[in-house]
Amino acid sequence: MLIDGFKREIRYLRVSVTDRCNLRCRYCMPEEGIEWLPHEDIMRYEEILRVIRICSEIGVDKVRITGGEPLVRKGLLGFIEGIREINGINDLSMTTNGVFLSNAAQNLKSAGINRLNISLDTLNKEKFSYITRVNAFDDVMNGIEKSMELGFIIKINVVAIAGFNDDEINTFARHTIEKDIEIRFIELMPMGCAARFGNNRVFRANELKDIIESEQGILDPATSGLGPAKVYRIRGAKGKIGFIDPMTEHSFCRRCNRIRLTANGQLKLCLFSEDGIDLLKPIRKGVSDKELSSLIMESVKLKPAHGIHIEGRNGSGTMNRIGG
Ligand code: 5AD
Ligand code: SF4
Repeated sequence: MLIDGFKREIRYLRVSVTDRCNLRCRYCMPEEGIEWLPHEDIMRYEEILRVIRICSEIGVDKVRITGGEPLVRKGLLGFIEGIREINGINDLSMTTNGVFLSNAAQNLKSAGINRLNISLDTLNKEKFSYITRVNAFDDVMNGIEKSMELGFIIKINVVAIAGFNDDEINTFARHTIEKDIEIRFIELMPMGCAARFGNNRVFRANELKDIIESEQGILDPATSGLGPAKVYRIRGAKGKIGFIDPMTEHSFCRRCNRIRLTANGQLKLCLFSEDGIDLLKPIRKGVSDKELSSLIMESVKLKPAHGIHIEGRNGSGTMNRIGG
């Protein structure tokens, strides 16, 4: 078992396979993109697979592939099959912006992905082009439809942005009545571009819940996974509504069960940690499995009790590097 210094059991590893992305969401990246990581600093798939295997031997049983946008990296399917072959990983999911999904969905399914989180902050085509700076709304909608047909377990990630999508909260919520999907509202975290984005007012999960309850009545508590999301259901609905509230909920970090591996091989213990523990250098220097395993176990003990609520601390790095 992988236990941190605050008795949290770490079973969930999020792996960013690239910092690149085909979209330019305004709260994430500037229009021109950012300085991408140099190719040689990106972990090779074999290197990532080794880290996942070692993590699985010490208690990780759940892996999520993230980016940037994971579907822009070549060879992803073979990598996913590689994860499938690792004993002990029994839940394999991916976060994607959905743009390339309608083509990729069938192959992802065959390779072994069973759950997808798809980012979609608006249901309005023009607003989509505005927030992502790319005209790809229809592609994402087709991607979602295709993956629903294929039977993926689907969550839609909606970053709640005051003044942008507050008028769509109930439209999103209503989709859960007839469809077995989970709509997850995420509080915008002030890191990187997001710190300078919009009117800087955090749209709180509680306000979102009130908006939905004023139309749908009291939401019934529901469950979904072991992570920090709070999950509810409109009475009688097929799907669920989740809230990710790191900005307003002080117990958020107590429920954190995850660590992250960045595309350049840094083990990030918290989204808001200033820096990660470098695994890539030791790997390229030829550490043994045993040494790598101890390095990971020792590192996990350094996971901070809290991230975001520490006074004056701001997230370092941008979401496309860390993978959300
Ligand atoms: N705050 C909250 N969510 C963010 N995402 C990207 N940047 C931020 C931020 N600053 C979201 C993306 C995606 C998920 C991986 O993280 O929209 O849904
Ligand atoms: Fe790409 Fe995600 Fe950043 Fe949008 S939020 S630009 S989809 S990495």
